[in-house]
Amino acid sequence: MEQVTQNRLEILASLAEKARTCHNCALRDGCRGVVFGEGNPFSPIMFIGEGPGQTEDELGMPFVGKAGQLLDKILEAAELPRETVYITNIVKCRPPGNRTPVMPEMQACLPWLRQQYAIIRPKLIVLLGLAATHGILGEGIKMGEAHGKWFERGQTKFMPTYHPAAVLRNSSLRRPVWEDFQKIHEALQGIGEI
Ligand code: URA
Repeated sequence: MEQVTQNRLEILASLAEKARTCHNCALRDGCRGVVFGEGNPFSPIMFIGEGPGQTEDELGMPFVGKAGQLLDKILEAAELPRETVYITNIVKCRPPGNRTPVMPEMQACLPWLRQQYAIIRPKLIVLLGLAATHGILGEGIKMGEAHGKWFERGQTKFMPTYHPAAVLRNSSLRRPVWEDFQKIHEALQGIGEI
């Protein structure tokens, strides 16, 4: 088992190394580093955010700024400690001024996410915010209607929910996000992963 864990970590690490020199879009020219993703490579659940912010760009880790601190609290409350899950973003390079990544940038970055998915093979994927939701499930989706619902694509179920940064701006989103995370907890229980 240890050998398998090591291999999966090594494969992810070598993929992250390759991504450091990616120029699939222009974002790499304007950021400090590539924030590839981190967490348990055997997790049944993957969280996908929008893209690195300033703190993430500086530290090279996803969700370590204010939104990340809130995500940590939400994960703890849902009995899903951060170290048990895998966390990444739809774009791996910080968009200038923290703007939302545009569709061509998300599409250019998708090959990296596909490879992460192929290695980790999560059963559940949580899409944090509209950018990740649009980039993966399609542009027509409205968060007010889609959050908390599971969308099945092949072997995997995807749930959009509000981005923690949106919750920081609008405290009325706390309850729907909490309810969404209860559903996530239940889904993990349902597949025997909690
Ligand atoms: N917001 C995101 O979407 N991703 C991060 O990594 C940090 C903030």
